[in-house]
Formats: sequence, structure tokens, C-alpha cells
Amino acid sequence: MIKKFYVTTPIYYVNDQPHIGHAYTTIAADVLARYWRNKLGKDKVFFLTGTDEHGDKVAAGAKAEGLEITEFVDKYASKFQETFKRLSIDYNKFIRTTEPEHNDSVQIFMNKLNQAGAVYQGVYEGLYCRDCEDFYREKDLADGQCPVHLKPPELVKEKNWFFRLEKYLRQVEELIASGELVIEPVNINKEVQGLLKQGLKDFSITRERVNWGLDFPVDSSLKIYVWVEALQNYISAIGYGRDDKEFNAWWPADIHLMAKDIIKFHCIYWPAMLLAAGEKLPRKIFAHGFFTVNGQKMSKTLKNAIDPNKLINKFGADATRYLLLSQFPFGQDGDIKESSFDEQYQASLANGVGNLVARVSKMIEQYLDGQINKSIKPSQEFNQHCELIEQEIEQLHLQGAIKTIQKALSSLDEVIEKAQPWQMAKEDKPQELKEILSQQAASILKLAQYIQLFMPETGQKIQDQFKQDKITKGEILFPRIESE
Ligand code: MSP
Repeated sequence: MIKKFYVTTPIYYVNDQPHIGHAYTTIAADVLARYWRNKLGKDKVFFLTGTDEHGDKVAAGAKAEGLEITEFVDKYASKFQETFKRLSIDYNKFIRTTEPEHNDSVQIFMNKLNQAGAVYQGVYEGLYCRDCEDFYREKDLADGQCPVHLKPPELVKEKNWFFRLEKYLRQVEELIASGELVIEPVNINKEVQGLLKQGLKDFSITRERVNWGLDFPVDSSLKIYVWVEALQNYISAIGYGRDDKEFNAWWPADIHLMAKDIIKFHCIYWPAMLLAAGEKLPRKIFAHGFFTVNGQKMSKTLKNAIDPNKLINKFGADATRYLLLSQFPFGQDGDIKESSFDEQYQASLANGVGNLVARVSKMIEQYLDGQINKSIKPSQEFNQHCELIEQEIEQLHLQGAIKTIQKALSSLDEVIEKAQPWQMAKEDKPQELKEILSQQAASILKLAQYIQLFMPETGQKIQDQFKQDKITKGEILFPRIESE
């Protein structure tokens, strides 16, 4: 078993409000962090998330809103922080790339790349999409437009410094093939291998025109390309070059989580940069799918991005977490239909876990005066569900784990339907009655540990309720939602 667990999410651009895409990855990372904290101990897990605050795109956003850049990034970084707090995201650090410590580490890392001979000066001419903060080749354009943002890229010619990517490509390819650098799921691994076979070119690591960025230490008239410093957040957050003890305690990361939109940067550029600097590579990179909303890509122009706060206001943080992660398998693409959330909330949460907990606790209160036999344990069959949940979480089958939790709940419902404790009460079978309800309570208590990963507040409430010496019915976990 692993000894520590370091999990990261991408750092999100602060040019707009957080939407459910950002929430999705961050909730998933939170589930993993909570799981490993339970297994390894609280101080053996480090969960990093944060915001990516430099570059043209952010500067343009500030201009559009008529704000000073620093005001603008503060505004949106706090929106991310507030939203994550409301979603019960229990991170260890929220990094902002405008923190001086990030810059300190980046300067050290860039100097290291220079000393290793991994960077050189040249002139670059290319087609640049400002929204992607990336260059495109003619053949990758869609009708002359950026395939992601559907607008024409700008022709840019600048004096730049380059990173010798080509020198490290073979090594990256071998490390992926040998499984030393794990890239999951399989389709993403294949996509990355395909990119490597295409033959990527050395890439520019500085920008001449950009003002809002970190200085390039080798030539301070230039700024570092935002992606190059953003990737370094994963090491600057744990003290790279500043605190060796802290850094060595956490690096390499156990998993970098993200969606598939940014795998080239994470699976190829980042490992190559680390190899050049003589650092270890992350153990695993997992890219989940991309989801659409009602069949459409979420975008600012379409104004269809769903604000997680809207869902939290309606359903609460726990149900929002649950609804987002349960829609489609983690790792695959999917579609979110907000209109189906009411029904799912009612069916899976109110009538599911909420109803079972209320039903069992009520019977314990009514028939046993709240007293159960605490030496009675869950059944073998029930324990198998729990083992499966653990395996699924470790393999990142997060939707699978949710489904298995639902199965475990239904199995408890079935036991009640079959045994009919109310008949036992009528027929005066106190022994059997106590046994069955005690086993139900023990099972619910055990399952609550897993429920808590996905729904922290609910899981805690259930545990508090069933750990009492005298169990009472308690409050309704998932109250009826007022329809709009
Ligand atoms: N700033 C860069 C990442 C730098 S990491 C060193 C960036 N930011 S972003 O704000 O665009 O966030 C992209 C990430 O947000 C995705 O990789 C994913 O984690 C999440 N998602 C954004 N939209 C999403 C969907 N529609 N579906 C799933 N995840 C989504 O890229």
C-alpha cells in the first residue's frame, strides 16, 4: 500500500466564474483525498487545487471588466475559493500563481532548465489562439479557425526561448510504455502515445508581447509562457527549491487529475520538463472526460455554463456533489441534464439513503427504545459491497463506487422487506427483532463512511446518529425540493 497520497487538480483560469466543469474535477479529487485520509491518516495526504492567474487571457478579462488586473484576479480567485468551500472541498492548499512563493520556485526551476542546457533562444512564427494560449499548425485548424474557440488565430512572430522537447520525447514515450508513468484511462493513454508518434516540436517557453506574467530569469525582458509556469504549481506548492524537506515528503505526486482537454501539457510537456530538471515524474495522470450541458459545450458565449452555486442553493452541497459525479462513468465523456436532477434527487437521495436511514432509526426508536446490540456486525454479503466500493475508488471508478453504495443500500432495504420487523414486533419476537435492526444499524454505520466521501455532511450526520447509545429518528436528510 502507498505511504502518502498527493493529489492535484488543474489550476483554473481566473477569467470567469467557476462552473460545474471545475467543480467536477475538484469534487473527484476531494473524494480521493478523503478516502486516503481515512486509510493512511490525515497528515499523510496532501490535496492541492488553485488558480492560474497569468497570461493574455486573464489580462484581457480584466480589461473587459475595466478592473486592475490584481483586483480582477483577486475577485475571481475568491469566487473559486468560496465555491469550493461551499462544496465542502477540503483541500490542503489553494495555490494562486500570483503568490510570491510560486514565483520563487519557478525562478529556480527555470534556471535549472537553463543550466541543464534544456532551453535555447530562437525566433518563432506561428498561429496563436489567445483563448487557448497555444500555437496551432495550419492543418490542425478547422476552416482556418481555432478548433476549440472557432475564431481565427493570430499570426505571431517573436523572439523566444525554446524548450528542447524533442530531446526528451523518446524518454517520455518509454516511461509511458513501461508503465513507470501511468496514464489513464486507456483511451487517453492511446491518445498520448499517438501525439508522441506525430513528432512534437520544441516549444517556446517565453512570450514577448505578454506583460502579465512571471519574468524569465535568463532574459528578464521576456515573460514565461503561462503554461510553463502553471505546470510548476504542482511543485512550487510543496516548496520546490525553498523547502526540501516538505518537497521530498510529497513529491512525486501520486495523481494529477484533470479532463482530457489538457493532456498534451500534462502527459508530455510536464514530464519532459521534469526529466530535464532531474526531478521525478508524477506516478499517475488521470484524465476524465469532458461533459456537455444538454448536448452543448459549456461556454461563455452560449451562456450555458452552470454555476455550481445555483445547484448548491437548490439541492445543498452534498446532493450537488452526488448529482455531478453520478451522471456518467468517471473517465468517459457525458452529458449533464440539469432538468433531470430533481427527479434523481428524489429517487436516489430522498427515497434512497434518506428513506432507509429514517425508516431503520424510527423502528429502532419505536421497537427497541433506541437500544441496539452493538456486538452484531454487518453480513458477509454486505461487507463484500464495501470491499468493492474501496476497489472502485482506488481504480477511480467513482460512478461505479456510487452505484455500489446504492446497491448496498438496496440490499438493506430488501432485508427489511423480507424480514418485516413490524410483524416481528406484532408477533412478539424480541430476539429476532433486535438482531435484525442491530445488523441494519451496524451496516448503515459502516456504509456511512463511504457515503461521507461523496456527501461529507450526510455521512457525518448518519454516523453521529447511529453511534448514539440511544438511537432516535433524527432529522430528514434530504428534504423535499421546491420545484421552480
Ligand atoms: N489553467 C489551465 C490548467 C493549468 S494546470 C497546470 C486550464 N484551466 S481551465 O480553467 O480551463 O480548467 C480546465 C479544467 O477544468 C479541465 O481540465 C477540467 O478539469 C475542468 N473542466 C472544465 N470544463 C469541463 C467540462 N466541460 N467537463 C469536464 N471537466 C471540465 O486549463
